[in-house]
Amino acid sequence: MRTWAVINQKGGVGKTTTTVSLAGHLCQRKRRLLLVDLDPHGSLTAYLGYDPDNLKTGIYSLFSAPVVNQAEVARLLLPTPLPDTWLFAASTALATLDRQMGTGHGKGLVVAQAIACVADKFEHGLIDCPPMLGILMINALAACDQLLIPAQTDYLSIKGLERMVHTLGMVEKSLGQSTPYLIVPTMFDRRTRASSDALARMREIYGYRVWGSVIPIDTKFRDASKAGLPLPQLMPRARGSQAYLELLEFLLGADEETRDARTETQRIA
Ligand SMILES: Nc1ncnc2c1ncn2[C@@H]1O[C@H](COP(=O)(O)OP(=O)(O)OP(=O)(O)O)[C@@H](O)[C@H]1O
Ligand SMILES: [Mg+2]
Repeated sequence: MRTWAVINQKGGVGKTTTTVSLAGHLCQRKRRLLLVDLDPHGSLTAYLGYDPDNLKTGIYSLFSAPVVNQAEVARLLLPTPLPDTWLFAASTALATLDRQMGTGHGKGLVVAQAIACVADKFEHGLIDCPPMLGILMINALAACDQLLIPAQTDYLSIKGLERMVHTLGMVEKSLGQSTPYLIVPTMFDRRTRASSDALARMREIYGYRVWGSVIPIDTKFRDASKAGLPLPQLMPRARGSQAYLELLEFLLGADEETRDARTETQRIA
């Protein structure tokens, strides 16, 4: 199972949209998919038809359990409108975790352990993160193989991106691990100079870490969230759908390259 986490401390940059759209394309490819909503606002959970204010089951319960237990984890899986796609839902109670536990009480691996319990059921995992640093983001970092950082192509977003990359460096140092990340330029408006300038600046600062293409601004994303379906399901030909398809293909290709490189290293060793 490969798990990608979609993170950025900045709000409203397209994290949930990226999660949902990649999920839409993955399930069209008949991949068994696990979605994990770590945002206390529960946008992903709500998108998929559940009410995060009134959920009885959710990933929150695992944080108060003494150990992450396989049977309990399996009970948390909720079906979604997408085929072969299941959800670990967020409830608003998640917002209380940082206050209850701080970051130093050994709860950084709860999500990784939960995913490990069901890893044989799924081919892919996608984690949607909250726009803040805290125990949930740390859990996401510990649970994924690849980070995706959506960044809006505007000037303010570049400052936010700097902060995010800096935070990432600090957290990874303290966790003693490093996870590859890809910056995904979002809401690109090719008619405006501001968007092109911001994109050029992103590439200048972060080079190969920035995905070679962009997610364009597309009002159809709002229609899709109103319909409770990923845009690729609702309008496969929309520009936004096509862009996320391109992103998915890039990510799957990169995964394959990593696998090939690992096999080659093992062969040589
Ligand atoms: N490429 C796009 N073009 C147009 N609108 C978009 C695009 N991507 C996202 N949006 C819209 O922008 C808003 C914010 O997107 P989204 O909820 O995905 O951001 P987020 O980073 O998850 O936000 P939060 O930090 O609050 O969780 C939503 O209304 C979404 O429909
Ligand atoms: Mg979100």
